[in-house]
Amino acid sequence: MIGRLNHVAIAVPDLAAAAARYRDMLGAVVSQKMDLAEHGVSVVFVDLENTRIELMTPLGSNSPVAGFLARNPGGGTHHLCFEVKDMDAAIEELTQKGARVLGDGKPRIGAHGKPVIFLHPKDFDGVLIELEETGEMATPLSS
Ligand code: CO
Repeated sequence: MIGRLNHVAIAVPDLAAAAARYRDMLGAVVSQKMDLAEHGVSVVFVDLENTRIELMTPLGSNSPVAGFLARNPGGGTHHLCFEVKDMDAAIEELTQKGARVLGDGKPRIGAHGKPVIFLHPKDFDGVLIELEETGEMATPLSS
């Protein structure tokens, strides 16, 4: 069902400082900051040859990342995102197999303009999983 690892998301307390570390210390290509108001996060994408790193920090007063950063003040790995070709089929199969889709169980439009869902971390060894529908195409880079 799942295809490529689309990105690894890291919650950070200081987005500009984290972006500068990846750009200046690690020599990576880093995108401009994007504010995703409906997701409650500001993000920067680090483009690597085989995947991306999503650096994210809370935006607004009830960000879903705020609680994570309260528990992990220095930041930490927040979720993994895998690509799927058909989101509706993936949701149906996962639900049948007992996995829990977070929220209302319906896809939302994610950072790349594609439908995304999140799966309960208790069903995946403590790791929050994001699925992103990419169809047949590889996702375009965000920058
Ligand atoms: Co993500």
